Parts: sequence; C-alpha cells; structure tokens
Amino acid sequence: MLIRTALKSPGSTYRCRTRVGSNLIEEIGSHICKQITGRTCAIVTDTNVGPLFADRVKRSLTSAGFKPTLITIPAGEKSKTLKQAGAICEQMIAAGLDRQSFIIGLGGGVIGDLSGFVAAIYHRGIPHVQIPTTLLAMVDSSIGGKTGVNTADGKNLIGAVHQPSLVIDNVNVLKTLPRREFSQGFAEIIKHAIIADATMFAQLQSWEPSSPRRPLALQRLIKRNIEIKSKIIAKDEYDRTGTRAVLNFGHTVGHAIERAGNYKRFLHGEALSLGIVAACAVSRKKAGLLRREHDAVIELLQRFKLPTRLPKNFPRQKIFDALKFDKKFEGGKIRFVVTPRIGSARVATNVTLADLRDAVNDL
Ligand SMILES: NC(=O)c1ccc[n+]([C@@H]2O[C@H](COP(=O)([O-])OP(=O)(O)OC[C@H]3O[C@@H](n4cnc5c(N)ncnc54)[C@H](O)[C@@H]3O)[C@@H](O)[C@H]2O)c1
Ligand SMILES: [Zn+2]
Repeated sequence: MLIRTALKSPGSTYRCRTRVGSNLIEEIGSHICKQITGRTCAIVTDTNVGPLFADRVKRSLTSAGFKPTLITIPAGEKSKTLKQAGAICEQMIAAGLDRQSFIIGLGGGVIGDLSGFVAAIYHRGIPHVQIPTTLLAMVDSSIGGKTGVNTADGKNLIGAVHQPSLVIDNVNVLKTLPRREFSQGFAEIIKHAIIADATMFAQLQSWEPSSPRRPLALQRLIKRNIEIKSKIIAKDEYDRTGTRAVLNFGHTVGHAIERAGNYKRFLHGEALSLGIVAACAVSRKKAGLLRREHDAVIELLQRFKLPTRLPKNFPRQKIFDALKFDKKFEGGKIRFVVTPRIGSARVATNVTLADLRDAVNDL
C-alpha cells in the first residue's frame, strides 16, 4: 500500500512530499526520478543502517540511471558534528559531486539532521532526500526541514532550515529497529496527539504495542503524524510567529533531562516522555488541564513502555542547571507550551521557573 502525502497550506510555500508504504526500497530510484533532475548523488548512512539497507538502495538508484556514492559514518549522536559535516563535504568533492548532485540521508534522525545540513551548505544548497529508518525520524525529524549539528555546548546549535525534496518512509525497515528505539518514537506520536489530535489519542489508547509491527496500521499512523506536523509547520515554517513552538511541548524539561543524563542515560523520546509528564503537571496548575486527562496521558506513555518517573537517585539539580541552556529561556522570558485539554496546545507566558522546579521535583 502506498500513501501519498503532499500538503500545501494556503499562503505558504511549504510543501511536504512524502511517500509512505512498505517494500518501497526497490522503487526508490523511480520515485526520486520524478522529483530530481540531477544524476549523481551521495548516500549518507551510518554503520548500523548501511549494512542492512545501503546495497538495496544503491541498486535501486543505479537501475534508475543514478550514480550513487556511498558515505558511511559511525552510528550515534557523536557523529552529528561540524567536523563530520566537513568530512562528508570533502568526500563528496573527491567523488566529483557538484551543484547538480543531491544527497540521500539513509538512517535515523542523526543521519537526517547531518545529511540535511550538508545538503544545505554544499555548493550553497543542493536537494535532500530523506529515507528515515527509525520511527522517530519518520514521524518527526524528517519533517519540517530543520537540519543541524551539535557543539560541545549543546545540541543543534548550528543548522539551517532546508526542506527535503522528498521523504520516503518504508515501514518494513522498522523491523530491525531495537525495541527501545521503536518505543521512543511513540513519545513524539503521543506528543502530536496531545497538542493536536484527540481522536488519535483515543486510538492510541487501544493500540496494542506488544503485537508485531503491523505495517498497515503503522503506515496510517505515520501518515497522520506527518499531516499533523506539516500543518503546524506550514503556518510558521521559520519558527517566527510562535505557532511552530507548540511542537516543543514536553521538550523544555525533556531536553534538560537529556542533557542532565549526558545524552546517555535516556534516549530523546524517553526524556521527552518525562518532559511530557512535567508539562502536563504545569498544565494542570496553569492551564486548567483536568486531572482525568493528565492521568490518561501518563497511562498512555506507560502503555508504550516509556518512563513517567525519574529514577530516585537521579541528580535533579543537574536538570535545573540544564534548563538554563534552553533556547526558550533566551532574554529571561519563559515560553512554555501547555495543553489546556487533550488535542490542543498553546504557548503560555505565566509559567515560572518555580513551576518547572515543582514539576521536576514531582517526577
Ligand atoms: N530535525 C528535527 O526536526 C528533529 C526532530 C527530532 C529529533 N531530531 C534529531 O534526531 C536525532 C535522533 O534520531 P533517532 O532517534 O532516529 O536516532 P539515530 O539516528 O541515532 O538512530 C538510533 C539508532 O538506531 C540505529 N538504527 C536506525 N535505523 C535502524 C534500523 N532500521 N534498524 C536497526 N538499527 C537502526 C542507528 O544506527 C542508531 O544507532 C537527534 O539527533 C535529534 O536531535 C531532529
Ligand atoms: Zn523531539
């Protein structure tokens, strides 16, 4: 089954071209042919994903008439650096890739962000195709065009908005994804449900997370999430009016927890899950979220094996310290996303650091 998603919002140039299906790898070449005129490309992948799928992607591209160069980098967040971006650019120059070429990111969010950043700067910008291989990348990081790398001081401090020309979500690749990585994708899905889709929230409440990864149900769910994120981005592509900020729901505290755990203790989605719990506690206090809905969120996160309590011995002070690094605290103002009821969200200006401290202490 193939689901085509092409959203265009009135008054906006933002467009999200996505193919969602199973068994799409063999068709990658022909899908790209329809969107991109260049013939040469780099496939950027990592040491886990490359051995699993790169050969098939390469074959599909070659038989469609493309000339791909494979670039494999070490798996993991530590590869998302300016140095690695430079090394990829140099390999592309050595392979003779020019401004007519394009880049394919084959991997999770790390590969998507890094290859997208290279696409944004190589010859001042060449097309980017994303082939996400994690659930998180399919429902979140491949959509919206945010690309970038980390520095020693923090995540995603250097980057560019560079929309992908095409995103190809082949759900069958998720079969090899480790369980923890699969589960963390649901934190972003649950976030989307809370901020924009009460119906999807109810569907997730009866989703059977322990059953095999049902391709059809997954395709529908991924498509729905792409639509939710795209609709929000189409209204505020460059994060200027505050509309896009609702996507940060749960991330203020989530990022601080990720940082406090040195990016090792929790996966992004796990830290986000805890951040969602904190944001719901703040929403109860400051936005009128009902206890019943607050409890339903926690139950849903637990259903997908996501953490809702911090380990007792976790150094909470490190979370408070990390909150200072959050970009949302710039200029001393707190822009905190609350949910007054499931299916809606807004940026609140009446949330204080003391509220966040209470919420973190209760985790
Ligand atoms: N650009 C955005 O809007 C945005 C949004 C959210 C997150 N992100 C970024 O995304 C990154 C996290 O993404 P992620 O969780 O996908 O991490 P990841 O890319 O590190 O992938 C997680 C792990 O799974 C492995 N893997 C990937 N696909 C696999 C598969 N099909 N089978 C087996 N193993 C596989 C990877 O090699 C890696 O070890 C972070 O850097 C975060 O900042 C960006
Ligand atoms: Zn996130």
